[in-house]
Amino acid sequence: MMKLRTIREIIKVAEKKIKPNAFKWINGAAEFGNTCDRNRDIFRQIGIVPRVLNNNKNINISKNFFGRKCSAPILFSPLGGTDQFNKKSEFIFSEIAEKNKIPYFFPNNSGHTIREINPLKKKQFLNRSMYLDNDLNFCKREISDAEKNGCHSITITVDSPVRPVSYNKIDQNYDARKHYATKPLNYFRKKKGKPLTWNVISKIRKMTKKPIILKGILSKHDALRAYNLGMDGIWISNHGGRILESDVTAVEVLSEIREKLPKKVTVICDGGIRTGTDILKTISLGADFVSIGRPLIYGLIANSKEGVNKVIELLKFEFLNSMKLAGASNFDDIKKLKKILRFYNESR
Ligand SMILES: Cc1cc2nc3c(=O)[nH]c(=O)nc-3n(C[C@H](O)[C@H](O)[C@H](O)COP(=O)(O)O)c2cc1C
Repeated sequence: MMKLRTIREIIKVAEKKIKPNAFKWINGAAEFGNTCDRNRDIFRQIGIVPRVLNNNKNINISKNFFGRKCSAPILFSPLGGTDQFNKKSEFIFSEIAEKNKIPYFFPNNSGHTIREINPLKKKQFLNRSMYLDNDLNFCKREISDAEKNGCHSITITVDSPVRPVSYNKIDQNYDARKHYATKPLNYFRKKKGKPLTWNVISKIRKMTKKPIILKGILSKHDALRAYNLGMDGIWISNHGGRILESDVTAVEVLSEIREKLPKKVTVICDGGIRTGTDILKTISLGADFVSIGRPLIYGLIANSKEGVNKVIELLKFEFLNSMKLAGASNFDDIKKLKKILRFYNESR
């Protein structure tokens, strides 16, 4: 097997190990996939001006996530359907997340229960991710299950009320749902019933005292509204470009959303983050945490547990390295770095 020294190599190995249409499903995106491509391209439109002779040996990248000390400002994004590549995928993600002290978001569109993932209820970095559902009793059950089985926070994905159209997926004729475990899956995007509105969010807020994060926010107005309804975190995301072909990426709207929110609100940003400098740029624009999606699946396919661990090790190493090269010793220094944004010509 090729050595796994970079995420680029991990992607190459993963691509060789699975069928082309399964690989394309992972990369799958809405319509032509332009938003997904932009998630990567956008990082080249963010310039960072480094500072020199400003290095400090004691660089600390640990970060507090609702009272849990994490080893880095990195999260494991919720990833449904990954057990088609490894039957133990979610157990592996959770195990490596615990080992690295990095929060893992376990999705509710899974073939496993939280109790199976956390039988001893000892996990510190396990969090629930659920799709918003218009059946409030279902939401209540899901939240109570997360509370009883040791989840630290709850993320509610609000960006996908209906199934998106993906030309790529249609061309591939690959229905991932036929390849992953669906039991005890009890979540399906609702076709009938009441439309999903902000009313549901206020009701959900009352169901738990756990931190709640809304995932899939791209508008500063929605971010502010979520905060006013008592949300503890805002997850700025276009779902890896898989939902609405919009050509808006999370990092483009990150600063304006951060400016609207009080400091106490945790801001997470994801989409296309593959390198240490991507993390540096995203934090510099105002994120508290970045989240990683597809690279974890590539790591899993390339070399199971070790592959997932390698992805995290590489990202941490590269992030530290880019901090040193940019002359930043802590998160405040990163935020103060001068940025040259080549995408700000649109109306704000
Ligand atoms: C295969 C796959 C499955 C996903 N499943 C979910 C999910 O169940 N819930 C969710 O909120 N987001 C889901 N996402 C989106 C990710 O959580 C995350 O927002 C996105 O992958 C980040 O972009 P990146 O893959 O470029 O890092 C999924 C993404 C992929 C690629």
